[in-house]
Amino acid sequence: MNQTIATILRRRSVRSYRQDPVGPAELEQILETARSAPTAMNQQPWHFTVIRDPGLLAKLEKVCRSAFLESNIEALRQIAAQEGFSVFYNAPVLIIVSGDVNAISPQYDCTLAMENMMLAAASLEIASCWTHAVMMFHATEKGKTMFRELGISFPDNHVPYAAAVFGYPAGPLPEAPPRNPDCVTIMG
Ligand SMILES: Cc1cc2nc3c(=O)[nH]c(=O)nc-3n(C[C@H](O)[C@H](O)[C@H](O)COP(=O)(O)O)c2cc1C
Repeated sequence: MNQTIATILRRRSVRSYRQDPVGPAELEQILETARSAPTAMNQQPWHFTVIRDPGLLAKLEKVCRSAFLESNIEALRQIAAQEGFSVFYNAPVLIIVSGDVNAISPQYDCTLAMENMMLAAASLEIASCWTHAVMMFHATEKGKTMFRELGISFPDNHVPYAAAVFGYPAGPLPEAPPRNPDCVTIMG
């Protein structure tokens, strides 16, 4: 198995982090892989907001949790109500990929950039986890106001399409959740 495939298979969503920061060189490499993701008509309609300030992360954690608690999805409400639940898992870095709503396919473009970053991070032994609460919270009026109050702004016409935390895992990587092998049809 080659190194790329091994890295893709090794990546896991990690939900417990050490406090050590991700160094600027590693961060820049990760962001470079984001910028080299494919985009519809090469529009690159994205912006990468990197939050490393622990105080700001803690404030955002608090408000984003309400997105889960107030969700109309029962499973999300239950998870958020659990003791010890954390949106960002105390990770030292949060990256939000926002995209221009008027682009051809900003959601795909931003998601591809995020996947590149998660894989690049895994190749550097840096763990990651998608944090959906950011998008859910920002989709509400309360969320947009709160983002502004926290000083987190995006370029004009941008909305967050992908968000994930990054950092060094506090322990061994979790086991891979089972995958359904029956989701492939090969014709011919
Ligand atoms: C669109 C999307 C939203 C997700 N939201 C969350 C989330 O809010 N919190 C979380 O801990 N994991 C989240 N995840 C991670 C998934 O739970 C995880 O990818 C899945 O369980 C498979 O595990 P693996 O990533 O370790 O292979 C999300 C993943 C995706 C693709």
